Amino acid sequence: MSVRRLADEAVQPASFAFSRAMGTEVKRWIKKYPKGREQSAVIPLLMLAQEQDGWVTRAAIEHVSKMLDMPLIRVLEVATFYTQFQLAPVGTRAHIQVCGTTPCMLRGAGELIDLCKAKIHPEPFHTNEGGTLSWEEVECQGTCVNAPMVMIFKDTYEDLTPARLDEIIDAFEAGRGDSVRTGPQVDRVYSAPMGGPTTLTDEKAVTVKNRAKPSAAASGASAAKLPPSNAAKPKTDAIETAKAIASPSSVKVDDGARKKAPAKKAAAKPGLEDKDRPQGIARPAAVDDLKMISGVGPKIEGILHDLGIFTFAQVSKWKKTEREWVDGYLSFHGRIEREDWVKQAKALAKGGEAEYIKVFGKKPR
Ligand code: FES
Repeated sequence: MSVRRLADEAVQPASFAFSRAMGTEVKRWIKKYPKGREQSAVIPLLMLAQEQDGWVTRAAIEHVSKMLDMPLIRVLEVATFYTQFQLAPVGTRAHIQVCGTTPCMLRGAGELIDLCKAKIHPEPFHTNEGGTLSWEEVECQGTCVNAPMVMIFKDTYEDLTPARLDEIIDAFEAGRGDSVRTGPQVDRVYSAPMGGPTTLTDEKAVTVKNRAKPSAAASGASAAKLPPSNAAKPKTDAIETAKAIASPSSVKVDDGARKKAPAKKAAAKPGLEDKDRPQGIARPAAVDDLKMISGVGPKIEGILHDLGIFTFAQVSKWKKTEREWVDGYLSFHGRIEREDWVKQAKALAKGGEAEYIKVFGKKPR
C-alpha cells in the first residue's frame, strides 16, 4: 500500500467551488441522509469534486469539510484512505488502477503492469507525454473471481490479458472510453462461469414446488440492468486467450454428457448372513473403547457391538473382504480404508495409547 499524501502545493489550486450542475448533484446526495446525518455524504461529495476537477484538491477537501460542517481532519482521513480518490493530477482521459493483490497477481497482473510501464510511463502516478494517461497499482478491488482486473474511473475491466488492456487503453486515449464494454472481457455474465452455467442446468434440478416462472417483464428488467456495452459479444481473441489462462475448473462441462450420465445407484447394504461378515464374539467381560479408532463414534461403536465386535484385536485382523463388508454395512464409502482402521486397531491392541502415538505421532481421539 502506497503512502497517500496530498499533492505538492505547487499544483494545488487556490480555491474550489462546485459548478452549478455539480451543485445540484451535491444537494441531491446530501438530501439522501437524515437531518443531522449530512456528514454521511462525505464520500459522494469528494467523488463529485473529483469528477469535476479530475482529482481531489486540498481546496476541495476544505470546501467539503465546510459544507458538511465536519472537522477538516475527518475529510482528509477519508480522502487519503480510499485509493478511489486521486490526490494529484492524473491522466485526463484515463487513470489505470491495476490490482496487484494476490489473486490478480497469480493471474497475470504483473504483465498488465509491465504494459502500463511500457505504454504510459515507467513510474506510477506519472502521466504520458500528452498528459492523457497515467497508472498505479492498487490493492484488491473486489472482483478477484474475474482476475486480473483494472479500474478506470468508476468502472472495472475484468478477465484481462495484456492484449485486451492494450485495446482498452487505446480506446480511452482516442476518447472512446464510453464505448468499451465494462466488467468481464470474456464470455461470462458478471462472475458466472465462462461459456454459461455449469450447474443446475436442468430445470428438473429445481425442486421447489409451484415455483413461479419469471415473468417476461422481470426478465426484461434484469436484462435492462446490463450496460448496453455489456450485451455486446466480446472479441473472440480475448475470450480464447483468457480461456487459455483459465484454470481447468472453469472448463465448461458438456451438458449433453451430464444429462446422459446415469445416476449412481446407492450400493445395496450387505446382508447379515453374508459370508464376508467378520466373525463376531460374545460380549467379553472387558471391552475395548472402539471410539479410540478415528472414525468410530458412539453410534458406530453400538453398531459394531451389535455385530459382535468388541475388541481392537478383532478389528486388527479384518481381511479386505471383511473390511468391505463392514464399510458397506455402515455406508462408509471407503472410509475404513481411508482412515486405516486395521493399522489403528493393531497399534491400540499392541500397546494402547502409547503405541498409537508412536505409530501415528498423535493421540487417538
Ligand atoms: S485481488 Fe484483484 S480484485 Fe481482488
